[in-house]
Amino acid sequence: MTQQETLGVAVIGAGMAGAAHAAGWRAATTVRSPFPAQVRLVAVADIAEPLARSVAGRYGYERTETDWRALLTADDVDIVSVVVANHLHREIVEELLAAGKHVLCEKPLSDSIEDAQAMAEAARKSPQVARVGFTYQRAPGVAALSDLVRDGTLGEVVHLNGRYYSDYACSPQVPMTWRYRGSPGSGALADVGSHLLAAAELVAGPIRNVSGARFRTVIPERPLPKGATVGHGLVEVTDETEAVTNDDWAGLTVEFDQASGTLEASRVAPGHPNGHRLEITCTKGSAIWDQESPSEIQLFLHDDQVAAHQNGFRVVKLGPGHPYIAEGYPMVAPGIGVGQNDTFIFQARAFLEEVVGLPEEESWPRCASFDDGLRNMRVIEAAARSAAADGVAVTLD
Ligand SMILES: NC(=O)c1ccc[n+]([C@@H]2O[C@H](COP(=O)([O-])OP(=O)(O)OC[C@H]3O[C@@H](n4cnc5c(N)ncnc54)[C@H](O)[C@@H]3O)[C@@H](O)[C@H]2O)c1
Repeated sequence: MTQQETLGVAVIGAGMAGAAHAAGWRAATTVRSPFPAQVRLVAVADIAEPLARSVAGRYGYERTETDWRALLTADDVDIVSVVVANHLHREIVEELLAAGKHVLCEKPLSDSIEDAQAMAEAARKSPQVARVGFTYQRAPGVAALSDLVRDGTLGEVVHLNGRYYSDYACSPQVPMTWRYRGSPGSGALADVGSHLLAAAELVAGPIRNVSGARFRTVIPERPLPKGATVGHGLVEVTDETEAVTNDDWAGLTVEFDQASGTLEASRVAPGHPNGHRLEITCTKGSAIWDQESPSEIQLFLHDDQVAAHQNGFRVVKLGPGHPYIAEGYPMVAPGIGVGQNDTFIFQARAFLEEVVGLPEEESWPRCASFDDGLRNMRVIEAAARSAAADGVAVTLD
């Protein structure tokens, strides 16, 4: 048996998404085909040590660190996921790349366009793989919509309606965290809306213009937490409050090359825990994907063979005709169910395939580049400029 290359993986941030990354790396070698390198789960780093220990223990990582800088000089670490608050991404990513580590950074790339530009620049200069995690581009239903447009089945996209409604911030008792600090656009639009923008662009192409943007902050202040926070959870709070400075809701109109779109992102939509949805109307039909039924799409096609009063949307259960399902699961059949956590496995696998040099045409689609992450931030910035000027149209270069 030949000696296999070993790739050591670490995750910085053991919060909500950090756990999904830790789990994703663990399963990444179990999909598609035997992976040509050994993947060693080395470290989970978090300033909250008990959290790091819990995630490392659950997913089989060898050690924990409370200072991410320890990873810079760790010879046994080759690949690092950066899964902390957005304003912390730049420093960590730049230092990791300079230390020769491959980096998978969470979305949005940062909380400011200046930092995102600097990060994209650092990635361009680095020989390491630097990618950003727009996991929904790997949701089989989103990929299926994109395929139906690309292969001509649906014809040209005429308009797209997309929304990412979530309800994690509905309660005024949800404490102040990094999610509620920052400039307009860094709230719901950057948090869940960045996924929506990436999914919409995968289906309808690049956004060229933003207009009619409106932001609303519905809960203007939040109590400070007594201790550490993870994800969206409720914790004990103090009597002190801090003002929320960014958007609870964002709505905008966009122009793609061929199509128009209306998009909304909300973190205060009761009853919509994870309501990410795309509807496209095209010249030959229409299609809908909704994360709350993630392994199916609804499809309507004009059909001269079917009487108009008998035609309508049909539900398509995505099955082994789709690569992520054909290659992503041990048991392969239509209707087996696909979840958001699976997309972290698919993402980790695509990243590993790039690191070992598998050619793009043989690999699962590459993860988004830092330049893609910067573009995503530019759309958010354009929406912020539009919202600040009563909905004025802002063209992206
Ligand atoms: N792809 C997705 O579906 C998805 C989902 C949620 C969050 N995210 C992204 O993941 C990132 C993290 O979000 P989250 O919800 O997991 O946040 P979180 O608040 O749940 O967790 C962040 C963790 O970072 C730790 N931390 C803070 N400062 C640190 C430091 N200096 N060094 C090491 N650890 C530190 C905190 O203790 C905490 O455990 C954000 O960029 C967010 O946008 C992506």
